[in-house]
Amino acid sequence: DWNMDSFIEETVKNISKQIGNKKAVCGLSGGVDSAVAALLVHKAIGDNLTCIFVDHGLLRLNEAEEVMEAFEGKLGLNVIKVDAGEHFLSRLKGVIDPERKRKIIGNEFINIFEKEAAKYGEGEFLVQGTLYPDIVESGTKTATTIKTHHNVGGLPEDMTFKLCEPLKELFKDEVREVGRKLGLPEHLVNRQPFPGPGMAIRVMGEVNEDRLNLLRKADAIVRKEIKAYDKENKVWQYFAVLPGSYSVGVMGDDRTYQQVVAVRAVGSEDGMTASWSHLPYEVLDKISQRIVNEVDGVNRVVYDITSKPPGTIEWE
Ligand code: XMP
Repeated sequence: DWNMDSFIEETVKNISKQIGNKKAVCGLSGGVDSAVAALLVHKAIGDNLTCIFVDHGLLRLNEAEEVMEAFEGKLGLNVIKVDAGEHFLSRLKGVIDPERKRKIIGNEFINIFEKEAAKYGEGEFLVQGTLYPDIVESGTKTATTIKTHHNVGGLPEDMTFKLCEPLKELFKDEVREVGRKLGLPEHLVNRQPFPGPGMAIRVMGEVNEDRLNLLRKADAIVRKEIKAYDKENKVWQYFAVLPGSYSVGVMGDDRTYQQVVAVRAVGSEDGMTASWSHLPYEVLDKISQRIVNEVDGVNRVVYDITSKPPGTIEWE
């Protein structure tokens, strides 16, 4: 529609004026806000924009590859991928407390991003996907607050970036609309919320490669089956959780003692409150059978029937 076209035109003009022939960096998370911000800036300044994608190794199955394929492959952005999975796992070794997990991941993420960003444009522009509601919520802090996809706090004070925030007058729906116009693939336009600390807060207890891999497989099944049922994106968020408990089962003549996987699916408007989704039994049945049959080490599947409040959407 006309409004979005003229928004894009105006914004690209303004970004060109703001950045000129200087350089800019943008942290890509795979989320829609940073993606659309990057696309607008790319339209304005082309290859003077470098996107930095820190892969913390806590993403969903094939997610890092999909992000690279979309942004570097299809959309032609300049993307630096930092493979930091092993580094994050080493920092998370033995860590059980959810808040400590969050803190460690947030801090490491900022450190790595900062180091990388300094290589590609220290002293110039930092592109952020800040939306209008973010500004309203955080008041005047916005100008000095980095909104990584972790929402974890500030850039170090000695960083000298100027901010470029091309979405700061938009609401989420409008961002999606702009994204579509700029060729962002539909699965990224409509990506469900995914927490900055990623799968680390869906694996209860210690996070390690084996547990992550098991959860990734189960989660991919959950997402595939619910997506096939939920054609109109009515379910707000859905995923698998690894509670870390074991249960006894039978397989043929043998007794098994394996992990439990929990399935979470909720409806919500904004994530502040949520109600557990009344998925059809057939969908739940398919998920359960597939997980137990296809994911080694799992012999039981449970469905989380807790709303928020009193539960939270995530388990940690
Ligand atoms: P809870 O679990 O608090 O989640 O009901 C509400 C929404 O926020 C997401 N979430 C996070 N997002 N960093 C994020 O960027 C985080 O640490 C984090 N924790 C929860 C969650 O996925 C849900 O959409």
